[in-house]
Amino acid sequence: MAEPIKVLVTGAAGQIAYSLLYTIVKGDVFGKDQPLILVLLDITPMLPVLEGVVMEICDCALPLVREVISTDKEEEAFKDIDVAILVGSMPRREGMERKDLLQANSKIFKSQGYALDKLAKKTVKVLVVGNPANTNCLTAIKCAPSIPKENFSCLTRLDHNRAKAQIAYRLGVPSNDVKNVIIWGNHSSTQYPDVSHAVVKVKGKQMSVLDAVKDDSWLRGDFITTVQNRGAAVIKARKLSSAMSAAKAISDHLRDIWFGTPEGEWVSMGVISDGNPYNIPNDLVYSFPVQIKNKAWSIVECLKINDFSCEKMKATAKELTEEKETASEFLSSA
Ligand code: NAD
Ligand code: LMR
Repeated sequence: MAEPIKVLVTGAAGQIAYSLLYTIVKGDVFGKDQPLILVLLDITPMLPVLEGVVMEICDCALPLVREVISTDKEEEAFKDIDVAILVGSMPRREGMERKDLLQANSKIFKSQGYALDKLAKKTVKVLVVGNPANTNCLTAIKCAPSIPKENFSCLTRLDHNRAKAQIAYRLGVPSNDVKNVIIWGNHSSTQYPDVSHAVVKVKGKQMSVLDAVKDDSWLRGDFITTVQNRGAAVIKARKLSSAMSAAKAISDHLRDIWFGTPEGEWVSMGVISDGNPYNIPNDLVYSFPVQIKNKAWSIVECLKINDFSCEKMKATAKELTEEKETASEFLSSA
């Protein structure tokens, strides 16, 4: 058996973590033969809840768990970790945009960025989930200069999965027959869900999604707004933000980092924009189509971008630039 890896989940007493932890400890993310030391971080008032979560993990009687450490101290939580899943933060409520959380949440990612820099392994893979995820990820990157920027990513896989599911539902096919959708930009209502390069299997035959759907006005209209506003729609219905689907997306994202993407396929994730081939300004965490090999991502190059897409990609980059400025104002006055 392999040596255990140390996996930190922050916000471990919260609702996403409750859906996520079983999938991790069962081996669905890092593999069925990968032992785990699980580190669970939450704030002090949540420690009694965390104790219950630890009891439940124990009661699952799963063979991969070597140790569970629960703590409210970053110095303990970030020590020598291999993976950081940064969920812990405030979720939005009905009527808010995700960027309205910047003031409350950016200081968490500043402090956790410093903790990563000081305490984590330099090979650590960091996934930022807490909203606004792209800009929080950028904050963590800035505060952890000793860790390669490429080790950080933020979650836009939920949007990617939502886009796949909308197309699959429309065409009456299983969602895994839809491939290569793209989420460009921010995990916000300016994101651009793009199916110009996506393919689908219909009655055993692979074709472009554009040809299969044959309805450009839907693809350029309701499809995009449904995906952009899905998080808000879930909050309106549940009075809580999405958790089961977020946990599934986190598992998909990390499993792909660990094991790679299949040949010819890509997924969406928020990564540092430095030197990207699509003229997106440098120094943003922007969602791109990426392929992953040997635990390293690369942006898919040479995709043709039409004028419609170009405008949408620029608009979401503009919002990210504004968020970055707002976050830096909050952080410098904190
Ligand atoms: P939740 O309120 O149920 O849980 C959050 C947990 O984080 C709480 O237990 C809280 O005590 C804890 N926490 C707060 N500050 C912390 C800190 N400094 N260190 C450690 N833990 C801390 O919320 P949730 O539904 O689990 O959502 C968590 C975050 O994920 C929110 O910001 C939400 O908007 C975001 N989210 C992102 C995506 C995405 O696709 N990127 C999807 C869903 C939710
Ligand atoms: C989502 O997309 O469901 C999450 O980011 C939660 C939210 O605030 O929409």
